[in-house]
Amino acid sequence: MSKSVLITGASGNLGGAVTQKLLSDGYKIFTTIVPNEKAPADERIHAKVVDLFDEHDCAVYVEEITDSGDDIQAGVLLVGGFAMGSIAETNIGAMDKMIRLNFYTAFSMAKPLFEYFEKRGGGQIILIGARPALKAKQGKQAVAYSLSKSLIFHLADIINESGKDKNIRASVVVPSTIDTPPNRQSMPDADFSKWVPAENIADVISFLLTDSGSMLRETVVKVYNQA
Ligand SMILES: NC(=O)c1ccc[n+]([C@@H]2O[C@H](COP(=O)([O-])OP(=O)(O)OC[C@H]3O[C@@H](n4cnc5c(N)ncnc54)[C@H](OP(=O)(O)O)[C@@H]3O)[C@@H](O)[C@H]2O)c1
Repeated sequence: MSKSVLITGASGNLGGAVTQKLLSDGYKIFTTIVPNEKAPADERIHAKVVDLFDEHDCAVYVEEITDSGDDIQAGVLLVGGFAMGSIAETNIGAMDKMIRLNFYTAFSMAKPLFEYFEKRGGGQIILIGARPALKAKQGKQAVAYSLSKSLIFHLADIINESGKDKNIRASVVVPSTIDTPPNRQSMPDADFSKWVPAENIADVISFLLTDSGSMLRETVVKVYNQA
């Protein structure tokens, strides 16, 4: 049986690099797409339209994959998005939007994966945090974003505590600024060499999935480069 990973957000800037790296590591990739999104052409990538805000939909996808004989070893849950805003500029609507995008999309897939890992005797869930969730100095300019990402760290703690004797672990990878076309466009005067190439984050995620990486527990990896 080939080793498999489920990735959400595979079409994104980080997602593309992670998908390529894990393909080159020999993984079969399962991913989710949104309605009308073109499925990846690479036949090693299996994509299905899944509503990440619908926990039933997510559970059915994990069940379909595993019932058909594929064994998911890890979930790499990358979906997320950013919004600026101080406390004064942040209302419940803005909070709601960020929590849905950054937290519900991760929780809805982490839950069925955790349940599957309990049955298979272990597995890894890799989540993406953000520095503003750890540093209020940065978080104060992106309040809804940083609060929504802070839930990711606590989710990882809860998965690690609940999975302690079950060989189930969660890691949080924390990029500073990823060197992506949208970031270059919105910050044209920044020193891009201080940012983190998506490929380097993909390498970190690849390591977490190795036998040595699997020895780590309660892992929070700060991939900040010079930013
Ligand atoms: N960029 C940074 O500097 C930075 C820094 C710290 C943390 N992060 C985190 O790193 C992760 C990846 O960032 P990125 O820069 O690669 O982002 P990105 O290029 O915008 O990719 C986001 C991915 O999420 C998907 N997505 C967005 N909304 C969705 C929804 N409602 N349902 C399903 N999929 C949805 C996108 O799909 P579509 O392509 O179909 O929209 C895309 O695949 C995010 O969690 C982000 O918060 C990024």
